[in-house]
Amino acid sequence: MAVPLKKLNNGTYCPSFGLGTWLAAPGEAKETIKTAIDIGYRLFDCAWVYGNEKEIGEGLQAKISDGTVTRADLFVVTKLWNVFHEEDKVIPACKESLKNLGLEYIDLYLIHWPCATICKKFDSSLPFKGSENIEYDFCKTWKAMENCVSLGLVKSIGLSNFNSEQVARIMKSCSIKPVMNQIEVTPFLNQKKLITICKDHDIEIMAYSPLASPARPWAKEGDKMLSLEDSKLLSIGKKYRKTTAQVVLCYVYQQGTIPIPKSSNPDRLKQNIDIFDFMLSEEDLKLIDTFNCGIRMCHAEELKDNSEYPFNLVE
Ligand code: A2P
Repeated sequence: MAVPLKKLNNGTYCPSFGLGTWLAAPGEAKETIKTAIDIGYRLFDCAWVYGNEKEIGEGLQAKISDGTVTRADLFVVTKLWNVFHEEDKVIPACKESLKNLGLEYIDLYLIHWPCATICKKFDSSLPFKGSENIEYDFCKTWKAMENCVSLGLVKSIGLSNFNSEQVARIMKSCSIKPVMNQIEVTPFLNQKKLITICKDHDIEIMAYSPLASPARPWAKEGDKMLSLEDSKLLSIGKKYRKTTAQVVLCYVYQQGTIPIPKSSNPDRLKQNIDIFDFMLSEEDLKLIDTFNCGIRMCHAEELKDNSEYPFNLVE
């Protein structure tokens, strides 16, 4: 079943479902992208800091070259890393991502975090090693993001990990409105309030780590994990003849978001995008709402001392 499109506040369209590429391993990412395109994925969520833009670009190019898709069929997202917030660094960073991806334009360019850092000794492994927090007004960064649009480097611009107060600040000073805020959305953190606030600003939500990031490198023993063997999810899945992962992804989708689960496994890639032939009932949505406990999987500890650390505010 085709993935529906969402109209963004600048009149462009974005697929309602996509592929996350954080932790798509070197040597694996290119094949994953090719397989995903064959399955029907069109939205690819990337970031400079994931260190795999080049390989992802190769996968995209391979499927454009063999005629499976055209560039216009694809919706490629990538993100400005924290060390490039200063105005003069934004356009060069954007151009570097374009070069890495082998593209002439990016569909959606996001500020990855509201927090600026400087790099003392860069280590691309997350979380955030080798950089130090600095103060920098992200409204100035936004102006440079707007210049990326004027220069034709990107079609749309948006935010990631911005809380409601930070979104409001951007809205007050911007000339071009953000089309998106990409945030963590899971059954543990269903983000109903922040989603409503963003939608009131006409900003759509992209939901990262919708399966609650089981492979996050900072997970410790005893940390809360979302079990795909959970009896409530299993019984809901049985009703719709869907896996628990599909139930969770459908729940995240039905919060009004664009889920971007990561997978490098062809069966799971197929399974994850196959959620557009059913809808969870109000009763089942309410049951999954009971999982909501505000626990984040991606809390960015290293940014805690930054004056713009977004998670001091609940929404
Ligand atoms: P894999 O790449 O081996 O499929 P999130 O997007 O929340 O971070 O979740 C991604 C993680 O969940 C990856 O480790 C991925 O592993 C795994 N995953 C993705 N899809 C499924 C699925 N349908 N069932 C179980 N695990 C999944």
